[in-house]
Amino acid sequence: MKASRVEIRGSTDVVTARRDGRDMARVLGFGSADQTRLATAISELTRNVVQYAGSGFCEIENASSPNFMEVRVVVGDSGPGIPDLGEALRDGFSTGGGLGAGLPGTRRLVHSFDIISEPGNTRVEITVRRRRS
Ligand SMILES: Nc1ncnc2c1ncn2[C@@H]1O[C@H](COP(=O)(O)OP(=O)(O)OP(=O)(O)O)[C@@H](O)[C@H]1O
Ligand SMILES: [Mg+2]
Repeated sequence: MKASRVEIRGSTDVVTARRDGRDMARVLGFGSADQTRLATAISELTRNVVQYAGSGFCEIENASSPNFMEVRVVVGDSGPGIPDLGEALRDGFSTGGGLGAGLPGTRRLVHSFDIISEPGNTRVEITVRRRRS
């Protein structure tokens, strides 16, 4: 399956990115629980882009190798950035009146989670992977 890039500007783009992630996971052979994990993670990260940065992007690609099926996703924006990453990754921390569950919940759902953030450049890279049976 071809890689996907979705420009994120509003909630319909969140839905599109979420669906593209699920489709990629399904085509690569992931089960429905992993498809849902990936879709949920993409949904949380792209919702944050809409809410805190206004706009950004979501790139989804096949990162599989002979022994592993793997999807890699990068969600990025050029917004104000996250001042304190340690706080932002804590359960219950929100500057937007939310539950503060998005980032820490996403981190627990995926195989790898990497985040960098400074004013004008926030990038979250996640992977979901499974050993081939
Ligand atoms: N892309 C971003 N740009 C700037 N700040 C962000 C971004 N993503 C997250 N944050 C900051 O990190 C905090 C925690 O994000 P998280 O997604 O965990 O919770 P939330 O969005 O506040 O609530 P929830 O996701 O549970 O509705 C946010 O309140 C916001 O301050
Ligand atoms: Mg959130």
